[in-house]
Amino acid sequence: MKILVTGGTGYIGSHTVVELQAKGYEVIIVDNLSNSSIEVLDNIARISGKKPLFEKFDLTDPEKTAAFFKLHNDIQAVIHFAAFKAVGESVEFPLMYYRNNLISLINILQGMVDNNIRDLVFSSSCTVYGQPEQLPAREDTPVQKAASPYGNTKQVCEEIITDTSITANIRGILLRYFNPIGAHESAFIGELPLGVPNCLMPYITQTAIGKRPFLRVWGDDYDTPDGTAIRDYLHVVDLAKAHVIAVERMTGGNCKEKVEVFNLGTGKGMSVLEVINSFERSTGVKLNYEIMERRAGDIVKVWADTDYANKELGWKAEKTLDEMTSSAWKWELALAKKK
Ligand code: NAD
Ligand code: WQD
Repeated sequence: MKILVTGGTGYIGSHTVVELQAKGYEVIIVDNLSNSSIEVLDNIARISGKKPLFEKFDLTDPEKTAAFFKLHNDIQAVIHFAAFKAVGESVEFPLMYYRNNLISLINILQGMVDNNIRDLVFSSSCTVYGQPEQLPAREDTPVQKAASPYGNTKQVCEEIITDTSITANIRGILLRYFNPIGAHESAFIGELPLGVPNCLMPYITQTAIGKRPFLRVWGDDYDTPDGTAIRDYLHVVDLAKAHVIAVERMTGGNCKEKVEVFNLGTGKGMSVLEVINSFERSTGVKLNYEIMERRAGDIVKVWADTDYANKELGWKAEKTLDEMTSSAWKWELALAKKK
C-alpha cells in the first residue's frame, strides 16, 4: 500500500515514515524542504533500510499538486504534515501562514477528490483548545477562539476537511497533538529547529550543549503545584505510531464517522521544572536556567483526555518523560558530532 506523507522530511513526518515502513507500507514523501533537509531521506534509510520515494515541490502550487496526484493515483491514503508551525512567526506574517497552511490543504483535497483517494490523516494541534475551562481536554471540549494565526489555520483546516467530507468521498482523521518531544532512539532523525528555538525541549538541549548560555523558564507564579506551566509532552515515536494506526483504521474501513477527532498525548501534565528535572536525571547533565517573567500568550496548563484514542484507536503513549528527554539529548549530541 502506497501512502503519501506530506512534510515527510520534517520532524514528526520523518518519524512517521519510519513507522510506516516498519509495517511494510510504501511511502512517497512530498516536501519543499522549507523547514527540513534532504539528508533526512538517507537517515530514514539508515533506520529502515529503505529510502522513501521523494518529490520536492511546494504544495501551494495547484498545477504541480494536481500533476502529482494524477501521476500517483495509486496512493491509498494521505498523511498531511506539511505546514508552517511557529506561533510567533504566524503573528508577524499571518498571510504567509494562511497561504501555506490553507492552500496546501485545499490543493491536496482537490487532488484526492479528482483521483478518488478517500483517506486523509491531518496534523491538528492542542492549540485549538486554548486554555480549556475543564481539564483534561476532551475531543468535545469546545474549541476556543485561536490565540494566533497559526492556531487559526489548524481550526480552519479542520473545518475545511469536515465541510469537504459532507459531499465529497473524503474521510478525515484529525489528530490533535499535544507537545511532541524527543527523537528516534537511533539518533539518526530528530527535530531540527532553525535559528533560536521557541519550544522548551530544543532550548533545553541547546543550552546543555553550550549553544545557549541558559534556559529562561517563563514564569514560576502560575497556579500549579510548582508554579511553572503545565503541558502534556509525548514522545515523537509514540505520536508517529498513532498515524500508522489511523491509516489502518481508515483503509480498513473502520471509521465510525466521516471525520473523527483524536487527542494524542500521554494524559499527564508535566511542569517546566519537571521536564528540567527529568532531563538532568536521565542525562546526568546539569542545566543552567533562570526564572523569568511569564511569556506573553502562554496558557497556564493543558493536558489531554486520551480515553477516546486509547479505546477507539487502541493506541497509548508508552514512553516515559525520561525517555523523551534522554532521546532528545542523544539527538543533540549526534547533531554536534556532525559539525
Ligand atoms: P516540521 O516543520 O519539522 O515539518 C513540516 C514539513 O513540511 C517540513 O519538512 C517543511 O519543509 C514542509 N513544508 C511546509 N510547507 C510546505 C509546502 N507548502 N509544501 C511542501 N512542503 C512543505 O514540523 P513538524 O513539527 O514535523 O510538524 C508537522 C505538523 O504537525 C505540522 O502541520 C504542525 O503544525 C503539526 N503540529 C506540530 C506540533 C509540534 O509541536 N511539532 C504540535 C502540533 C501540531
Ligand atoms: C512549553 C512550556 C513555556 C521555552 C507550542 C505551540 C502549540 C503546539 C505545541 C503546534 C511553556 C515553557 C518554553 C523556553 C520555557 N504546537 N518554556 N522556556 O507553548 O505549549 O506550545 O507547541 O501546534 O501551538 O504554541 O510549547 O515548547 O513553546 O512551551 O519556560 O525557552 O515551556 O512557557 O510553559 P507550547 P513550548
